Amino acid sequence: MKFSQLEELVLQGLEHERCGVKLYDAALECAVSAELQDEWRRYHAETQRHVTALEEVCKALGIDAEQKTAGRTVVRHVASALVLAIKMARTSSSREAAQLVAAENIVLAETKDHLHWELLGECAELLPPEQAKVLRDAYEQIASQEDEHLYCTKSRSRALWRRSLGLEAAGQRRLGEAAPPAEQAAE
Ligand SMILES: [Fe+2]
Ligand SMILES: [Fe+2]
Repeated sequence: MKFSQLEELVLQGLEHERCGVKLYDAALECAVSAELQDEWRRYHAETQRHVTALEEVCKALGIDAEQKTAGRTVVRHVASALVLAIKMARTSSSREAAQLVAAENIVLAETKDHLHWELLGECAELLPPEQAKVLRDAYEQIASQEDEHLYCTKSRSRALWRRSLGLEAAGQRRLGEAAPPAEQAAE
């Protein structure tokens, strides 16, 4: 394993988690549904703990947590654009539309977050035991949270779109599904 690239992964992960805290701050401003508010408040708190966990990983692996890299700058740029897009929707659209934008942008951000932790878990297996422990412990606590952040928000985002499209009633056709024959449809 290339340690320099693990260092890059940890630094990108840390940057992404720090931006993730701001993303949830912005998303919470748009949340209309009480269920989503509770969920995003919890994910916000978990993301704050992920920042701390990665700062501890930096210490254990002898990485300067504030070290600048080109990749880290790109991560900050992309994540800031997601936050900005949510704020833009908040000021220019209805609260419901902004909530949907927030959910979609969380899915985009959590896709990368999820990838980072999957890779970090894999790398933990290849480190010397004393360094591996901090990373493995963090991975074991955080991986299932990242599953929830990504998969739940993806399904929330889909449900918000369906509601906005008026597709909540039973019997709506799915994408690509053929229309029923006329006589069957009339039954
Ligand atoms: Fe995270
Ligand atoms: Fe996450």
